[in-house]
Amino acid sequence: MQTFEDYQARYSAYEQIRFRRETGGLILFDLNTPAFGACFSLQGGQLLSFQQHDQRPLLWLSEQALMQPGKAIRGGIPLCWPWFGPAPDGSGRPAHGFARNLPWRLTSVLTEDNGWVVRFQLSDSADTRALWPHSFEASLTYQLGRTLRIDFCVVNLDPAPFSMSYAFHSYFPVDDIRQAEVLGLNGCDYYDQLQSMRLLRQQGPVRFDAECDRIYVDTAGEYLLRDGASGAELQIQTENCHSAIVWNPWVEKSQRLSDLADSAYQHMLCVECGNVNGNSIVVPAGGAHASAMQLKYR
Ligand code: BG6
Repeated sequence: MQTFEDYQARYSAYEQIRFRRETGGLILFDLNTPAFGACFSLQGGQLLSFQQHDQRPLLWLSEQALMQPGKAIRGGIPLCWPWFGPAPDGSGRPAHGFARNLPWRLTSVLTEDNGWVVRFQLSDSADTRALWPHSFEASLTYQLGRTLRIDFCVVNLDPAPFSMSYAFHSYFPVDDIRQAEVLGLNGCDYYDQLQSMRLLRQQGPVRFDAECDRIYVDTAGEYLLRDGASGAELQIQTENCHSAIVWNPWVEKSQRLSDLADSAYQHMLCVECGNVNGNSIVVPAGGAHASAMQLKYR
């Protein structure tokens, strides 16, 4: 595994990239360019923050996020994979899979005409096989420009098919959750996780005046998050993602979660894109599955 010093040495020629080590040992790096600032964590290959200098922050990061190896970081875009939610067999394996809790390899940081490209990889190891007995190569590729694009690809290196579910668990900032709405889900079926997975149908935009935890399936994959209080409109476009999860913990769950300030729910909203439940994916032996999400302010 590459160390903090290895990474520092490898990218020392780039003045835009600065590695830092958190007290618990987590390695982060900042990418600061004339156009934007971004921060990544090697754990999870996770983008924690991204902001064009002339725009509002695109992502929300909890002030109380745990920066400890092996603990999920609350904010940015953690990847939930190879399962979403509790472990499928109720075995007590980590919720939302292991991808967000393990260090990924930073394989390249490149400049291109339209911005920067940052690429991470995760391969199976004794740690992953203990949790999920499969051989794989997973990659996360970020294109950071006027649009933020994330490509996720999984290659099945097993001699047999495997099934998986996943989501880009994006945390977005809103000025006032009560004035926020999500468009693009009208008419979609959803499982209400707060009503024992009752199947319901969305009517109109999704609006918030209480805890919300819904899994929308068979969606069109294009959404708009309208933040009424600020007037900001965030466009979410996906490729090959047929589910969306809309989550806000509201008052009591915020109080229960130690890595979230009690009032934080007022200023964040998760609109997560991927393939879960009935949209779960079977990857054939030797085959691959790829999907992408693009984010930008209108
Ligand atoms: C959402 C789930 O995706 O993630 C919620 O639908 C869950 O049920 C939330 O509470 C946060 O999960 P975690 O594991 O990051 O606390």
